[in-house]
Amino acid sequence: MKLLVTGGAGFIGSNFIRYWLEKYPKDKITNLDKLTYAGRLETTEDFSKNKNYTFIKGDIGDLKTTLKATEGIEVVVNFAAESHNDRAIQDPGIFVRTNVLGTQILLEAAKRQNVKRFHHISTCEVFGELELNEKRAFKEEDPFRPRTPYNASKAAADHVVMAYYHTFGSPVTISHCSNNYGPYQFPEKIIPRFITNLIDNQKIPLYKSSQNRREWIYVDDHNEAVDIVIRKGKVGEMYSIGTGVEKSVEDIADSLLKIFGKPKSYKKYVPDRAGHDKRYLLSTKKIRSELGWKAKYEFDAYLEKTVEWYKENEWWWRPLKKEAEALYAKTGQK
Ligand SMILES: NC(=O)c1ccc[n+]([C@@H]2O[C@H](COP(=O)([O-])OP(=O)(O)OC[C@H]3O[C@@H](n4cnc5c(N)ncnc54)[C@H](O)[C@@H]3O)[C@@H](O)[C@H]2O)c1
Repeated sequence: MKLLVTGGAGFIGSNFIRYWLEKYPKDKITNLDKLTYAGRLETTEDFSKNKNYTFIKGDIGDLKTTLKATEGIEVVVNFAAESHNDRAIQDPGIFVRTNVLGTQILLEAAKRQNVKRFHHISTCEVFGELELNEKRAFKEEDPFRPRTPYNASKAAADHVVMAYYHTFGSPVTISHCSNNYGPYQFPEKIIPRFITNLIDNQKIPLYKSSQNRREWIYVDDHNEAVDIVIRKGKVGEMYSIGTGVEKSVEDIADSLLKIFGKPKSYKKYVPDRAGHDKRYLLSTKKIRSELGWKAKYEFDAYLEKTVEWYKENEWWWRPLKKEAEALYAKTGQK
């Protein structure tokens, strides 16, 4: 199979390529990535010399580039995005340009090149927020109620993907995933930020609404689910990918302090970001019953494994830490 992965120099996309090349060593993967602050060649170093791997530096929002990149491609997996809510508050425009317009250009290229499957990576955050005590989980057919510029751009992109399906018959699938953690995640996101602070013996900054919670998934679980959706998923359908494992900001902090053997005095509280959603939770009934997927990586064990990875790979995150902290210095969340 010949795949085009976009955003493959970022966190989840690079782990997807690593996963795929190992599982399907005969397949060929092209990675199209603009190399924004979040995309780094260092992240792809371990597979960059694989003979079945090709890298193209380019923007999904450029038709000439995407037409070339989709030539002879059977499956497109679109991870490329501006992905950080905190950054979307400072510059919403780039989120709309990359996530919405970029996705449309990529869909257009895939249509013209007769790509057999366009799989779009989306997020649970398109469904809006749940109350902390609400007894329901988001289902695939729920309406989109995004509340932040990032979430709105992802929801808009999903609508464009479905419009290509209904209008042009493009062979699309979409997956909505919960919060990921694992190796190679940029140190401005909560888990790597806390881990790298603790490695440096610094306090960890919790948002004041520290009871707000997320559903956490190890990145390989996400990528295995995407693999199954590509292989077995029905064109025109959306699938939710989650674990049911909910952790508050406070829980994450406490688990990490336990792993590092540090006291609770390492926690400090900073202002919330604007529009901080309280909670998301996905029902995974559809992907479990129709495609036979379920998450297998247990949270505590894989959080510990992630800590080990950051301890062993300072070469990767240390050059990025300064930029990550500069972002929070600007917003007073340091
Ligand atoms: N991180 C999560 O917890 C999570 C959860 C659910 C869904 N998602 C979605 O998964 C995808 C990947 O997320 P991530 O956390 O790996 O993000 P990331 O920010 O680590 O990586 C994004 C990658 O996209 C590239 N990129 C950005 N703009 C581009 C453009 N115009 N053209 C080509 N490449 C471009 C960047 O250079 C980077 O390599 C995103 O679509 C995101 O919305 C993420």
